[in-house]
Amino acid sequence: MTPPMHLVTPIRLRGLELRNRVIKSATFEGMTPGGAPSKALIDHHRQLAAGGVGLTTVAYGAVEPDGRSFAEQMVVSPELCGGLRALTEAVHAEGGAASIQLTHCGFFTKLGRADGGRPRAPSRVFNAYGALSGIPFSQAMTEAEIMTLVGAFARASDLAVGAGFDAVELHMGHGYLLSQFLTPGINRRRDRWGGSLENRLRAPLAVVAAVREAVGEDVPIIAKINLSDGLRGGLEIDEATQVAAALERAGVDLLVLSGGYTSKTPFFLLRGGRPLRDMIAVEKSRPQRLALRLFGPLYVRRYDFQEMFLRDLALRVRRAVTMPLALVGGVVGRENLAVAAADGFECVAMARALIADPDLVVRMTRGELERSRCDACNRCVALMDAGGVRCVLDEPTG
Ligand SMILES: Cc1cc2nc3c(=O)[nH]c(=O)nc-3n(C[C@H](O)[C@H](O)[C@H](O)COP(=O)(O)O)c2cc1C
Repeated sequence: MTPPMHLVTPIRLRGLELRNRVIKSATFEGMTPGGAPSKALIDHHRQLAAGGVGLTTVAYGAVEPDGRSFAEQMVVSPELCGGLRALTEAVHAEGGAASIQLTHCGFFTKLGRADGGRPRAPSRVFNAYGALSGIPFSQAMTEAEIMTLVGAFARASDLAVGAGFDAVELHMGHGYLLSQFLTPGINRRRDRWGGSLENRLRAPLAVVAAVREAVGEDVPIIAKINLSDGLRGGLEIDEATQVAAALERAGVDLLVLSGGYTSKTPFFLLRGGRPLRDMIAVEKSRPQRLALRLFGPLYVRRYDFQEMFLRDLALRVRRAVTMPLALVGGVVGRENLAVAAADGFECVAMARALIADPDLVVRMTRGELERSRCDACNRCVALMDAGGVRCVLDEPTG
């Protein structure tokens, strides 16, 4: 008999009781053709719930059309609510709960704006990701645009709860727009939205307040934040602990503690393999393919994989706040769950281990499996753009 795992016990977040503390971390699924939830997306999350996770997170719900980094992402809107409701019902039928990651890409986009203008961000910055699509620079947001953004998060949260989601996750990490506000080297504003940490927090906190107003007192708000941006001029752990404390005071119910900038240091948040060949193979644009082939090895930095690779930084936040925290990054099996629980993390969030083994929780609980077979090759990152996120070990050519 294997001993019971503490993290496989229930936890309450406001009006939501999760059957356990294992969260499927958001991984862009690549299952929203034309920006709409597909049967594959529903089945993907149904399978994760059947596999035992307490909460599964649907990735990338853009809060407005200009919040997409590329065209196939969902914009949370009334037309999608039928499909999203089918998804949440499928998850509930398996005893799981569902949240949706709400986000905006800011400058990090390949898409031109609907009004023909440049992507909006806290400040004008270079957008390497969009340079070959003709949008090499962002434009600083006006105060009115910031208020519109806040309203867009509130509206998307309201729609998500109406579609049956049990929680909303606000993406404040990985270099998306709310993270761009927090990063000193990116947010170079001189008004009340930039400069001091207090000012850089103003937009994220305004979003939290508006979302709380929209979802009411019963629905938990989760925020995914960076412990370290992993780049020069980035947000680092001292300020990250202050961000966590500010979000605790603002009534956020759970923090997922991540790091890295998808537009600049994408493998900081993953660690392990750097599947450049696969990324080149799935890139649809010829110039982007060429750029990746020529400059990828130089600019896409590698980071070695380690189990629980953000633990030391996350412990700094653990000491600074009392609110529930989820450790993410290299959590792959029973031993990690035991260490995370002993460290005082109420939850863990797992991404690649659950892509490889969606039934990991059920099998660990039964004592059939000690850890996921994921070896952090990261080829799932390329596969998400080639038919939907899945583990390469399940491919015929595995
Ligand atoms: C294929 C793939 C797609 C991802 N997409 C997202 C995303 O849309 N939003 C997000 O916050 N994190 C995303 N991530 C990061 C994960 O949520 C997680 O933070 C990271 O993979 C580290 O956890 P792990 O070691 O358990 O995989 C993605 C990761 C992978 C592998």
